Amino acid sequence: MREKITAGNWKMNLSWEEANNLANQLAKQPKNVEELIVVFSPNIYLKSLIEAYGDHLIIGAQNGYSEDSGAFTGEVSFKQLRELEVKHVLIGHSERRDLFHETDLLLKKKVSKAVELGFTIYFCCGEHLEERDADLHFSVIEKQLNNSLFHLSEAQFKQVVIAYEPVWAIGTGKTASTEQAEEMHAFIRSLLQKKYSEKVAVSTSILYGGSCKASNAQDLFSQPNIDGGLIGGASLQCADFSAIIEAQKIA
Ligand code: 13P
Repeated sequence: MREKITAGNWKMNLSWEEANNLANQLAKQPKNVEELIVVFSPNIYLKSLIEAYGDHLIIGAQNGYSEDSGAFTGEVSFKQLRELEVKHVLIGHSERRDLFHETDLLLKKKVSKAVELGFTIYFCCGEHLEERDADLHFSVIEKQLNNSLFHLSEAQFKQVVIAYEPVWAIGTGKTASTEQAEEMHAFIRSLLQKKYSEKVAVSTSILYGGSCKASNAQDLFSQPNIDGGLIGGASLQCADFSAIIEAQKIA
């Protein structure tokens, strides 16, 4: 069966001291063997965090570049991340798509390279508010998955986690209702069934992200097709993130 996952996306937040303290506190928490806890840290902290806490906490990267090396000023390749023992990576976050103009084609290349190098990828998809208002949300998600993810083989899909993050819910305090989230997760699972197989559909974890917090996490996580969360703001404080981890245990 698929894994339950609670993941924190720290984005471009936290000083080194804050990041170190937070990872230290999270690493000390009692583990629930059925739940994977992951934090996606700024690249600059990865090496130190993995060395200090890598045995107790999964530390992932928020992005990587598809070429192994070369004249790509400011980029960090998946190959370089692997050298740091990074094994989990976000791809296609809406902030990468919208602010840094990452296209479906670039994301496809990133997906291929990261999977080739053995990463577990957390592929993010999500629609904008005007797309939902125009009733285009299902087709937008299908297109994002078709264009950048569904070229993988069934065997490669073992390395994939999908995160549904409606853009209008990110950082806005406006969570998708449990019905909206569950409906989209069920739709994504039906696409996996159609494109791949029943096995892929039932074994791929699909996370919800977008203003997920302690007060709504349990409702969201108790839905049959929601396997956990990708948490932004509420992952930056140990108490908030721990409460979401707890919610997953009882959901
Ligand atoms: P918030 O939880 O702050 O809405 O962010 C969600 C997100 O973008 C996680 O990747």
